[in-house]
Amino acid sequence: MEKRSGKELRELFLKFFESKGCKRYKSFSLVPDDPTLLFTIAGMVPFKPYFLGLKTPEMTRATTAQKCVRTNDIENVGRTARHHTFFEMLGNFSFGDYFKKEIIPWAWEFLTEWVGLDPNRLYATVYLDDDEAYNIWHEVVGLPKERIFRLGEDDNFWAAGPVGPCGPCSEIIYDQGEEYSCGKPTCTVGCDCDRYLEIWNLVFMQYNRDKDGNLTPLPKKNIDTGMGLERLASVVQNVPNDFETDLFRPIMEEACKLVHVKYGEDKKKDMAVKVIADHTRAAAFMIADGILPQNDGQGYVLRRIIRRSVRYGRLLGIEKPFLTKLLPSVRASVGDIYTELTEHSATIEQILSTEEERFGKTLAQGTELLDAELAKLANGEVLNGRVAFELYDTFGFPYELTEEICNEHNVTIDKNDFLAALEEQRARARASSKQTKGVISKTVYTELADKTKTTNFVGYTENECEARVVAIIKDGQTVQEATGDCEIVLDKTPFYAEKGGQVGDTGVITAEGLEIKVTNTAYPASGLCAHKGTVKTGTVKVGEVVKASIYVERRAEIRRHHTATHLLQEALTRVLGPHVRQAGSLVTPTFLRFDFNHFAPLTAEQTSEVEQIVYEHVLKAEPVTTEIMSLEDAKKTKARALFDEKYGDTVRVVTAGFDYSCELCGGTHVTNTGEVGLVSIIKEEGIGSGVRRITAVCGKAAQLLIQRSAVAMSFVTSALGTSTDDICDRITEMLEEKRLLENYNKELKIKAALGDILGKIKPVENAKGVDLIIEKFEDISPDMLLIISDRIRQKFPSSIVFLAAVAKENNSAILVAATSEEIAKTGASAGKLLKESALAMGGKGGGRPTSAQGGAKDASKLDEGFAKAREVFKEMMA
Ligand code: ALA
Repeated sequence: MEKRSGKELRELFLKFFESKGCKRYKSFSLVPDDPTLLFTIAGMVPFKPYFLGLKTPEMTRATTAQKCVRTNDIENVGRTARHHTFFEMLGNFSFGDYFKKEIIPWAWEFLTEWVGLDPNRLYATVYLDDDEAYNIWHEVVGLPKERIFRLGEDDNFWAAGPVGPCGPCSEIIYDQGEEYSCGKPTCTVGCDCDRYLEIWNLVFMQYNRDKDGNLTPLPKKNIDTGMGLERLASVVQNVPNDFETDLFRPIMEEACKLVHVKYGEDKKKDMAVKVIADHTRAAAFMIADGILPQNDGQGYVLRRIIRRSVRYGRLLGIEKPFLTKLLPSVRASVGDIYTELTEHSATIEQILSTEEERFGKTLAQGTELLDAELAKLANGEVLNGRVAFELYDTFGFPYELTEEICNEHNVTIDKNDFLAALEEQRARARASSKQTKGVISKTVYTELADKTKTTNFVGYTENECEARVVAIIKDGQTVQEATGDCEIVLDKTPFYAEKGGQVGDTGVITAEGLEIKVTNTAYPASGLCAHKGTVKTGTVKVGEVVKASIYVERRAEIRRHHTATHLLQEALTRVLGPHVRQAGSLVTPTFLRFDFNHFAPLTAEQTSEVEQIVYEHVLKAEPVTTEIMSLEDAKKTKARALFDEKYGDTVRVVTAGFDYSCELCGGTHVTNTGEVGLVSIIKEEGIGSGVRRITAVCGKAAQLLIQRSAVAMSFVTSALGTSTDDICDRITEMLEEKRLLENYNKELKIKAALGDILGKIKPVENAKGVDLIIEKFEDISPDMLLIISDRIRQKFPSSIVFLAAVAKENNSAILVAATSEEIAKTGASAGKLLKESALAMGGKGGGRPTSAQGGAKDASKLDEGFAKAREVFKEMMA
């Protein structure tokens, strides 16, 4: 058999299935478009709608090498030959096209003829009663009966999850040979040991399982197969585990180098290296697909594996961040196929190192705490779950990591206690967020919302319309008529009610003898659109026909800012990477705010690049289109949906510039990007861990900003007597002048304070050639006192100086004492002298032998302190 590389095997597989009419697709993202799954766990995941018959595929045969992540056995990664978090699955799929009688012989053909595996080492398993598959294996392929095994549901029935497409399967097993056997007499196909290795799973996708576990036949019979590339490579390259294949070797070698391990000498160390290699590779792929370390969802898994690797690094004595140093080897092994690793290499590096550093800071302390707790427990005892919670909450230990460490000490954790502590914390967080939001009784609104029909919003196209007053709310009650402040519900309205970050419209509602000024429009209860305002003229009555008109100019500015927000998001994604996701937004007539996930402040270059990209699309004056379509159809477009947001069955897709920047959005937009006008980012800041906020202006607000800046600039240039071009130099000059003047001023103050004292100063004591100098000043800052002390010491190089400055205002004193290194070396200490003198005057202080500071509230006892200083000096010099 030819020893093919992982890359060659991947290509061979895809080529083989192309020759069978399958369309080759690039790997889909690790983040599935599927709420039932956290990650893409198999090659079939992106094709689920085709298996279920929900979508009609453009082809009926497909093949991929799919990036997958499985999380069920993370703690086993490193311990076994085969467990991985990230792996590549070679797959081929039939959507109601070929079935068992094709795929079984094809699989045989590929393995024996294309790859060249020894047919005598191959076995097959089929589902208990699957005679059809059995017969194909035996009669068509010619596999002897003793090499075909019928196994039960655990081995030969496959499903992507508790619900969804599933079916019986047939596995192909490779006998690695006696030396891999567990040695048990029962060791045969189906044994868990390494001898009979499952290399390929052929699933006959025939059923859909619902949430109650019922199986219903799918509209068509399908094929889904999956073969782990790493595993196939280990067999072909005849190595004992996946980590020794060429797919992992560069990463393993680099990891060994970094953590100073010689592979193969010590099983424990080998395991740590495998953990590090597997997890870093997985982390790189996850980040490239837009996942960020977080406390839930995919981000939690990412955090978990990074932190697990950091811990294993520490166990090998690596204290400094090192994971990012492995990234070039990850790229070297698979980067040519998965170009996203290179495209987003800076982001990957940044996120990985930030997370590693963050955990690196708390790992040692957390480990200390856990070790202390574990020391109290004997084998088989249980750790209080609250300790695990403290580790999680304060030291960032993922629960599973604590569990793994405990297991190493034969200790379990009381998970209920952990969960209880977690829930208490969440309840506290909920309570405090309620407090800040304020709890408003909405009963009147919810009741009204139940009674009235949803207001017909015509504001996408109309600025005014005729409408009927459906309800009026005044002082928290529904009323039939009102004057003054009130809220009005209409059957139809052009007013946009605050939603999706876009503020509500303002305007007027009028009728004969009636004028209402609308100051805001909002949804006080779901589906209830309330126009909040003041009746200026007349009385508003339920049933009355009115004219509702928004302030058109204001809305135009809101529209510009909303479209600008879309452009900004797209530009941020392009500049920073695919992980950028909206975390909140505010769209107003005068500014926009956009919050998004990103791990670091934007550099000045990034900010201006973002601005530049946005502005280019404004200048191109591209049409902005909105389309109402089914959620299903919307998913087929590239529309961005807000993470976790719930959408109805029909959605509105807004496409603005960039030929594909589209979002699901209910807001109001300009019809052409050119209308947005100048866009200027005015602020970029962090608003919480991993969340950044950009504030920007466009349209008239941007123009106003420029005007204001111009006015301010002209004031500054004329006040400084310079021109715009020279302003920077002038300011630099002035700052330098200011610095010089400040220094000069300080000098003057020192001179004034010292006056001719310096000439008059006399030591109050002298011993062994060392002078003691004691002086008192008035109203001098601590900094200044230090400078004065230096000056005195310059004049008396062999001295201990003890100074006090009395504040006239409250008769308190600050104290400073200092001496040289040489004198301190003889055992004299300014710190000791100051400490004891301060105590003698009812104050306190201290410091190093060469310099000390302190203070006393009552300066009237200064003399006592000075006397003490002399005493201490004499003692020290004795
Ligand atoms: N979807 C099947 C598996 O993952 C092929 O085993």
